[in-house]
Amino acid sequence: MTEATIESVLQENRSFPPPAEFSQQAHIKSLEEYEQLYDRAKADPEAFWAELAEQELDWFQKWDRVLDWQPPFAQWFVNGKLNISYNCLDRHLTTWRRNKAALIWEGEPGDSCTYTYAQLHREVCQFANVLKQLGVQKGDVVGIYMPMIPEAAVAMLACARIGAPHTVVFGGFSAEALRDRLNDGKAKLVITADGGWRKDTIVPLKEQVDKALAEKAVPTVAHVLVVERTKQGVHMEAGRDHWWHDLRQGVSADCPAEPMDSEDMLFILYTSGSTGKPKGVVHTTGGYNLYTHMTTKWVFDLRDTDVYWCTADVGWITGHSYIVYGPLSNGATSLMYEGAPRPSNPGCFWDVIEKYGVNIFYTAPTAIRAFIKAGEHLPKARDLSSLRLLGTVGEPINPEAWMWYHRVIGGGRCPIVDTWWQTETGGHMLTPLPGAIPTKPGSATRPFPGILADVVDLEGNSVGTNEGGYLAIRYPWPGMMRTVYGDDDRFRRTYWEHIPPKDGQYFYFAGDGARKDADGYYWVMGRVDDVINVAGHRLGTMEIESALVSHPAVAEAAVVGKPDDLKGNEIVAFITLDGNVTPSEALKAELRQHVGNEIGAIARPGEIRFSDALPKTRSGKIMRRLLRSLAAGQEVSGDTSTLEDRSVLDKLREGV
Ligand code: WT7
Repeated sequence: MTEATIESVLQENRSFPPPAEFSQQAHIKSLEEYEQLYDRAKADPEAFWAELAEQELDWFQKWDRVLDWQPPFAQWFVNGKLNISYNCLDRHLTTWRRNKAALIWEGEPGDSCTYTYAQLHREVCQFANVLKQLGVQKGDVVGIYMPMIPEAAVAMLACARIGAPHTVVFGGFSAEALRDRLNDGKAKLVITADGGWRKDTIVPLKEQVDKALAEKAVPTVAHVLVVERTKQGVHMEAGRDHWWHDLRQGVSADCPAEPMDSEDMLFILYTSGSTGKPKGVVHTTGGYNLYTHMTTKWVFDLRDTDVYWCTADVGWITGHSYIVYGPLSNGATSLMYEGAPRPSNPGCFWDVIEKYGVNIFYTAPTAIRAFIKAGEHLPKARDLSSLRLLGTVGEPINPEAWMWYHRVIGGGRCPIVDTWWQTETGGHMLTPLPGAIPTKPGSATRPFPGILADVVDLEGNSVGTNEGGYLAIRYPWPGMMRTVYGDDDRFRRTYWEHIPPKDGQYFYFAGDGARKDADGYYWVMGRVDDVINVAGHRLGTMEIESALVSHPAVAEAAVVGKPDDLKGNEIVAFITLDGNVTPSEALKAELRQHVGNEIGAIARPGEIRFSDALPKTRSGKIMRRLLRSLAAGQEVSGDTSTLEDRSVLDKLREGV
């Protein structure tokens, strides 16, 4: 193994075949069927995607060429014309799905509503006409800063309908973060609400918009469209701010979908780089529509009778691809929930599953670890027997959390799809197809058909079985990002130059470490920026953390390296304990020993620190960069604006 790769130390041998009755009814029914699809797609990716594009989507005009690849710039379905809002709405209206539930919405205070496809179509058309009246034209960027209410999806679909790219900014972001993103995107208009409910309190969204726009700090924004939700009373600036319920009065619900070029920009979504300003990830229309459509259909194995629930926020790519576009393009019933598990009702997710008979449930490892901590008596008190499929996304899931999810939430009968992907990839890349691919706890299993993944060293050579290396994609796919908004050069540097092209082949660099086992299963080991080098061994954080979390006293763990004269680095573990465990020196020794037993002496943390909470981003990822500074006794520097709770950092600094 070369210096530049990563060593893999964790062994996990459990495997779960798809239940026979699940496979029988699945879209993809067996491993053989998956492998045939995969091989066919690999032999001729263009033919594979073209066939699906023809079968699964409606086009106003067919493309001339399937793929134009001028590395690193790809165009899919060149000169094809379509509209994703049409594919998500209009085309269902001429079928029996016309009066099927498209969106089921549950608000945090307990209010709820349902939109059929016909109703949603009307709302979207009216909304689109209001945007036009406010001067929004094809090509104008629209900012969306909304709570998780149906109007957030309506706003996205309305923008798509008239060809105005949206940029959704997560409602938890501050006024400054909002301002920077609106400026970068040169947004013409902002759609927001007075506020939204989250964890029993009102998030004052309109107030943040006012701060972001104060003193014309975003000169391009002419109007703000405000949806009424929380009714706490907000400032409305004359001429600039408008209530949606006022402007919609008397507005026509007839608004034909604009024919868009396949490569017209659908949206910009900002994702934080490890350093520097956020990157505006650009996705376009045709390829993204097809890719989210196909992954939703096969990975969630959708059936028309399903109630499907993805717990993400529309402010993240998961909300774009798997609450709105993928499910609606398939004519599915997508459930949207406003809030988050909250002190007044920590079991509220299980209430929602019972109330609506949810069949498919898609959430994040950070949420699963919080469920474990809250206790299994909560889900046990509800009827979860409607569930037939579970999913996870966002981080590597440690095998113990996977097992808990499988046993307690899935009742041992539901396959789990552990989906590895990124804002940049648009949709699932490594994932089980649940009727076909046996699962292994902690592995995202195998590539989606049409995805040519690999684990390589920095020269682009495939590494051996079970050797760690860099996760890379060797061929374009329809859902891939097209560029960084306004910065082609950053796009090239960030994703295409870490591994230089080899024999004319380009490598998309995902920034994650991984290994492939003897069955061709991928095990993602975390961000390569987080790799710890101990005495010449390069260890991924995921495996050491998994070993720690497999100890019954540990709820959550994050490990980082601290510079050490002798070993290069010493491992420092930050740990939150299970609710009823008391911290002690003896426990620290026991945990060190536990990692020694699970992995080996090399991975034993030199130092353990207990803490009530770990610093996380608003999407629930642990910010190891901050922990690295703390472990080294340095001031925390760099961008901390994506931190969910700043007080966590102060507590850690005080050495709790
Ligand atoms: C990064 C992308 C994709 C939607 C949500 C996050 C990590 C994501 C998994 C998984 C291991 C995962 C990776 C990836 N990640 N899913 N199933 N197993 N790691 O989107 O914010 O763009 O983050 O999340 O490190 O690179 P994102």
